[in-house]
Amino acid sequence: MERRRFGPTNREVSVFGQGTWFIEKGDRASAIAALRRGLDLGMSHIDTAEMYGDGLAEDIVGAAIMGRRDEVFLVSKVLPENASRAGTIAACERSLAHLKTDHLNCYLLHWRGRFPLEETVAAFDALQQAGKILSWGVSNFDVADLQDMLAVAGERRIACNQVLYHLDERAIEHRVVPWCEAHDVAVVAYSPFGSGSFPRPSSKGGRVLKEIATRHAATAHQVALRFLVRRPSLFAIPKASKAVHVAENAAAAKLRLSNADFALIDAAFPIGAAPRSLPML
Ligand SMILES: NC(=O)c1ccc[n+]([C@@H]2O[C@H](COP(=O)([O-])OP(=O)(O)OC[C@H]3O[C@@H](n4cnc5c(N)ncnc54)[C@H](OP(=O)(O)O)[C@@H]3O)[C@@H](O)[C@H]2O)c1
Repeated sequence: MERRRFGPTNREVSVFGQGTWFIEKGDRASAIAALRRGLDLGMSHIDTAEMYGDGLAEDIVGAAIMGRRDEVFLVSKVLPENASRAGTIAACERSLAHLKTDHLNCYLLHWRGRFPLEETVAAFDALQQAGKILSWGVSNFDVADLQDMLAVAGERRIACNQVLYHLDERAIEHRVVPWCEAHDVAVVAYSPFGSGSFPRPSSKGGRVLKEIATRHAATAHQVALRFLVRRPSLFAIPKASKAVHVAENAAAAKLRLSNADFALIDAAFPIGAAPRSLPML
């Protein structure tokens, strides 16, 4: 599995990780087996959140990583409604209990809420000093939010920004990705398959993916994943509760697409206009 430096952390992290949203809805044993299969294949970045199943997803992750904690780059998230100074610390303690571990590799603010960023960062600092989190980051932050966070925390403190990114939703390419690259913040693509609404094989884009996939003896999902991480700042965290999907996603790391392939995908899934309301970088 290909690994990349994760923003300002000194940790090399798998380019493809494993999401866990709604993982508690399926069969528990299969979900655990799928996550462990992913670890076998080097998909060491596991993403979860206190929100997912109100801790049930974290429970499943805890069972899956039992005895294998050192292999895992473990990420969880605090809900904005809990992101006061004391609330963040309490939320982290709850997540650690569900996950049956004593530390997270990265702890994220799930999205920006009503509490001042200063409070959340003070809690992140305290958790980091206590060794309960090794780094922290944000999620769903646009450039204005990132600028505010930078003003509060300073350079090289924000490990990552986890954001929506798939073939039909490329808005982050306009300003968020350039900003993160300029400030050494890893960009983690969530819902890389559109949360289950992947381009249909019969659609124009689906046919382009299939044509490229056939030439490379790969699948359309693998082509999509490889496209999404074509820049060194990018990571992706597909969710797969089926072990066969996990194996397919892990194998995307071996796929090498040409610039001509990237151009075909780019044309089939246009980036769209930049949002007008945000200032240009
Ligand atoms: N920070 C945030 O606000 C935020 C928001 C959304 C998501 N996330 C994170 O990002 C993760 C991924 O996003 P997501 O769960 O929304 O959806 P996703 O990864 O875009 O899509 C998941 C769907 O794709 C299927 N799938 C996976 N691999 C496949 C393959 N190789 N071939 C065919 N189908 C495949 C899965 O099926 P099976 O499950 O049946 O295998 C599942 O139905 C989440 O689980 C979560 O950890 C974060």
